[in-house]
Amino acid sequence: MTRTFKHRHLLGIEELEAEDIFLLLDLSERFLEISERPLKKVPTLRGKTVINLFMESSTRTRGSFEIAGKRLSADVINQSSSGSSSSKGETLLDMAKNLGAMNPDVVVVRHRAAGTAHFLSRHLDASIVNAGDGMHEHPTQALLDCATIRRHKKQFEGLEVAILGDVSHSRVARSDILALTKLGARIRVAGPRTLLPIGLESLGVEVFDRIESAIEGADVVMALRLQEERQRSGLIPGNREFSRFFGVDNSRLALAKPDAIVMHPGPMNRGVEISPEVADGPRSVILEQVTYGVAVRMAILYLMAGSESTE
Ligand code: CP
Repeated sequence: MTRTFKHRHLLGIEELEAEDIFLLLDLSERFLEISERPLKKVPTLRGKTVINLFMESSTRTRGSFEIAGKRLSADVINQSSSGSSSSKGETLLDMAKNLGAMNPDVVVVRHRAAGTAHFLSRHLDASIVNAGDGMHEHPTQALLDCATIRRHKKQFEGLEVAILGDVSHSRVARSDILALTKLGARIRVAGPRTLLPIGLESLGVEVFDRIESAIEGADVVMALRLQEERQRSGLIPGNREFSRFFGVDNSRLALAKPDAIVMHPGPMNRGVEISPEVADGPRSVILEQVTYGVAVRMAILYLMAGSESTE
């Protein structure tokens, strides 16, 4: 039976069903194979145009969307806040309408304001991909996290996933929780109470005060970046205290299952939410996450641009 992706935009994991996520993960495996070839380019999106609109800084997401588009032979244009006319006072809507007038097929957007991708989807004819909107969602990160987990754990049903640290300010945490619970994993969360959103339990996760309790017996240990740029002051006493009580180090990791994997969406604050020994240790799959980032984003661009063939 042919499975079809019913969505014109990728705005969040919230809008997806488990079958949509599995379709994207399966497609990503095919695109991973293309990225492993000596000649990493296919003509699939020849004649299509992708605009990457990054109004917030990014290394992994912007770079992998650009590479993904180029490996599929799309024309890729990158716009960032510093080099764009937003620095001259142009509104987001005016900018979007002007970019829309260039007839792109896909617009990938990152913005500090939650809801930006949804907003653009109401004003542009192009497919919109959310590359992170404020503290709301980062759906492509969740998809690459799921792809990485599936490679190592084969299935999601009953998997124990510990998501640790600054959950309140993390769009990654929100998208990961939504995706992994839809796929049947069980989520445990731990962090300082000031960095855990009220009502977190309503998302179907188990909340712990102590990081040790969340890690004990976990299959996947995911440390989150302490997002100081989004925090108001005074939420934690300081980075040293945070690291002492909530940092993932080797002694805490020893509580997880012996074959547990360690993840981090990046960029990392080494020595704060994760120790260098763990980040670079044998259980870390952090760089594999980045590799899957390209494959997952190739799959997304392929579906959004509406092409017929992956050859
Ligand atoms: N994980 C992630 O979104 O990283 P960047 O901010 O570097 O894109």
